[in-house]
Amino acid sequence: AEGVVPPAMEWSWQGLFGTYDRAQLQRGFQVFKTVCATCHSMRYLAFRNLEGIGFNEDQIKAIAAEYEVQDGPNDDGEMFTRTAKPSDHFPHPFANDKAAAAANGGATPPDLSLMAKARPHGPDYIHALLTGYEEEAPAGVEMADGKYYNHYFPSHQISMPPPLYGNDVEYTDGTEATVDQEVLDVTAFLNWIAEPELEARKAMGMKVLLFLIVLTAMLYAVKRKIWAKIE
Ligand code: HEM
Repeated sequence: AEGVVPPAMEWSWQGLFGTYDRAQLQRGFQVFKTVCATCHSMRYLAFRNLEGIGFNEDQIKAIAAEYEVQDGPNDDGEMFTRTAKPSDHFPHPFANDKAAAAANGGATPPDLSLMAKARPHGPDYIHALLTGYEEEAPAGVEMADGKYYNHYFPSHQISMPPPLYGNDVEYTDGTEATVDQEVLDVTAFLNWIAEPELEARKAMGMKVLLFLIVLTAMLYAVKRKIWAKIE
């Protein structure tokens, strides 16, 4: 089935001068780690990358220390678990895709690192998906077992239960954790992890534009000078 086009939202990072809102990204990370990470992996996120959303070294160390990761083999050839450090990647919630599927009615929760790039309409789609659940399927629609009706999921029958209800986190910055707020924040975070270089890219674009404007003005002045005597 064709996907329904999601409503276009206004995101802080859009437009010529758009940037991420660091406070929002940190709130989004809080939602991700508290809710989404119980099912979804985020394979491209190393704890130290969180510098990009404004955490300092000590904060990153403290966040990493909340997790255990697999390491090894040690000198005796054994695998072991240890406390995570900033260079570790965010741990996966399941041992592998099979285990993930078994825990989720046969559907593997996809890795969320590049999700904002992987789906048409990216952040608009994620936002719409998270707010697009309906209690009841429209009349005449037969729901498969263990599926939830979602207006924006292409087949409308999704194996992900509605993940957010409001107050799923207690925001450390005091923002009220309404569903809408959580959805906006986690979507912003997912866009950042998929496109962390966005701000650098825009800054470079501005420099290129400025350079071209100056170069054009200079070439025009030179042309005027060279052709001045030939009228
Ligand atoms: C799929 C986001 C929480 C289980 C997805 C998809 C996204 C997503 C974007 C892909 C949809 C598509 O394929 O187009 C999120 C976010 C979460 C969250 C942002 C946190 C706010 C959870 C939780 C669970 C879960 C807590 C498990 C209880 C799944 C499953 C799928 C999925 C099983 C595959 C669905 C299917 O293909 O039918 N999620 N998710 N998700 N998610 Fe989540």
